[in-house]
Amino acid sequence: MIWIHPDPEAPSLQTWLQGIEAHLGPHRVSELVEHADTATSHDIQANWKLVVENYIDGYHLSHLHSTSLNMYDHKQQQSGFCGPHFHFYEPLAPDYAANVDKQSPLPVIDHFTPEKPLGAYVPMLFPCFGIGADESSWSIFQIIPLAVDKTRVITRTRVMPASDWSFWTQEWKSYSHYQKQTATKADKSNRDGQEDGDDPLASGDFMAEDIYVCEQQQKSLASPWYSVGAYASQQESAIREFHRQVLQAMKTATD
Ligand SMILES: [Fe+2]
Repeated sequence: MIWIHPDPEAPSLQTWLQGIEAHLGPHRVSELVEHADTATSHDIQANWKLVVENYIDGYHLSHLHSTSLNMYDHKQQQSGFCGPHFHFYEPLAPDYAANVDKQSPLPVIDHFTPEKPLGAYVPMLFPCFGIGADESSWSIFQIIPLAVDKTRVITRTRVMPASDWSFWTQEWKSYSHYQKQTATKADKSNRDGQEDGDDPLASGDFMAEDIYVCEQQQKSLASPWYSVGAYASQQESAIREFHRQVLQAMKTATD
């Protein structure tokens, strides 16, 4: 990846990112491999800041992703800011941790240490570059504003170098676990009267879930009944700080 700044007097990338490394996962990225078919591109009908807010909001994880991300212990999440950059960590859920070698959909990465244990390390480098690093993959989450109400998200993923056979057997081992999980949520949705198999909230796909709510939030901005409600004091506090950082950056740019 090549980083470019339009200002020739801009601080170096190292200076910009100073301090955040302590909060990143222990993944040795250069030792992981990228498979071309794991790259994704999604166009989302929402402002880029709504996508960032969704990414850094810890409160929605237990609700919106109650099935799709239930391998993590959301109550144990730890997050904060290092300068303008958001950092986040949460450990594996106890049941998943006890069986991760069987239930992980991909071979488990062996870079974790007692200081940086298994779990999800999910920072958002200000303003809009996310990294999703977990027990079996390391991904970039590049948020590209296209219009005031349209955003492209590109993901590229690296995994442990292993044979096709290893990936196939790992996928097979975890298949029954995930099949059961997805069916549970789909069944619930059907009980609620939704018969459409395309319902993103019954997909078991956290990306589809997030895209759906971002687009619903964008639509809500045009409602005459729109207003900002109460924030959760802890798990939504990152959104308040992100707003502050954006306002600060805009002020700096216009001074
Ligand atoms: Fe989400």
